[in-house]
Amino acid sequence: MVVEDGAHITDVLIESGRIERVGRIPASVDVETFDVRGKIIIPGGVDVHTHMDTPFMGAVTSDDHASASRAAAVGGTTTYVDYAFQRPGERLPEVLARWAGRAGGRSAVDFSFHLAVTSPYPDLVADMALVVADGVTSFKVFMAYKGLAMLDDGQLFTILTEASRLGATLCVHAENGHVIDVLAERLIRAGKTGPLGHLLSRPPETEVEAVRRGIMLANMADAPLYFVHLSTAGAVAAVAEAQSAGRPISGETCTHYLLLDEGLYHGPGFEAAKYVVSPPLRGREHREELWRGLREGTLAVVSSDHCPFCMAGQKTLGVHDFRRIPNGAPGIEHRVPLLYGHGVRSGRLSLERFVDVVSTGPARRFGLYPTKGVIRPGADADLVVIDPQAASVVLAQTMTQDCDYTPFERWHVPGRIDAVYLRGELVARRGRFVGRPDAGRFLPRRAA
Ligand code: URP
Ligand code: ZN
Ligand code: ZN
Repeated sequence: MVVEDGAHITDVLIESGRIERVGRIPASVDVETFDVRGKIIIPGGVDVHTHMDTPFMGAVTSDDHASASRAAAVGGTTTYVDYAFQRPGERLPEVLARWAGRAGGRSAVDFSFHLAVTSPYPDLVADMALVVADGVTSFKVFMAYKGLAMLDDGQLFTILTEASRLGATLCVHAENGHVIDVLAERLIRAGKTGPLGHLLSRPPETEVEAVRRGIMLANMADAPLYFVHLSTAGAVAAVAEAQSAGRPISGETCTHYLLLDEGLYHGPGFEAAKYVVSPPLRGREHREELWRGLREGTLAVVSSDHCPFCMAGQKTLGVHDFRRIPNGAPGIEHRVPLLYGHGVRSGRLSLERFVDVVSTGPARRFGLYPTKGVIRPGADADLVVIDPQAASVVLAQTMTQDCDYTPFERWHVPGRIDAVYLRGELVARRGRFVGRPDAGRFLPRRAA
């Protein structure tokens, strides 16, 4: 079993969905037993960045809460936190009610919500307090996607100040939307309409500038800040600097930024649309720094940013103009196995750090710990059994995620998830969902 203070050989006693005891359990105790000798047991994965059943850029993500939560279970994630997206003119409590209606009774694993504020209105600040009281203790704002979700610095500053006052976390999408739009327009005018334009219009500096600006705004507001989906060495350096100066700045990266290279945008035809995510994939020098950031604790979390759009009929919206390709890719099912297989087994992360970035860290950061993210008495019995001797191969054809491709097609992954338990109930067994489709519960989260 792997927990914060290291790996231990031990028994775990589960009762009524909770961890009852950790340590040697005498054989005389009359309980049903599962022999997992030779396996690695970790706390259930906590994926704090997903987009299910979400209208975005003219399409709706292809996974709803039902299909994506089954994929989560299969991939060792027993809790996810989904971004409830505000529509223009909608009040925050209405957004929450709409999102709860989409997920309620349809999730196979536990879930919670962040609230993505895209359209500020006069009573926004008062309404932020209402959703925090309902257990939604994190918000997201965008520094890019002009005309769709982007806020100006004043709006960001106001929300940042209020989130801090409420003890809520502000998650920031840090890219300079103004510069991106100018660069993208130039590329289109020059006839460069294919998916490579996505990379060319979002150079690393567009992220680094926004991260540094976000940190300055957080300093001015004397507020903490959490950067989502960081992709660049410069962003990691900026976060590290702020942390060294004692600022409460934290951040996440995602599976695809750690493992996939920007060279994929040079693929044939429209194939590269599979990798159109924002920010874009980067080169090796950036990936090295993201891994280092995870090892050294500058980055606290690896999320999937699960945001699937099918190639057929969805990504093709941008076949003549890369700006219209819906941004996002599927990932919830493969986050934990890929991080184990290509993080731990390749020597980039220790087993302990792996558990921290896929489960304990996100649970702590988003008010779910110690119910989630740890194997200790009182915690939910969310457990993942990994067989280190086995291996698996990622294939879109056999995956549970509802999308017609995966960016990790044919990846060989050392280690295999053998069994996944949600509150003591078996929900997945060797790549197959075996749980109850409505077993997931909404998790109200604490404010800091
Ligand atoms: O490409 C991405 N990341 N799509 C999802 C929306 C977001 O910005 O998180
Ligand atoms: Zn984002
Ligand atoms: Zn996202």
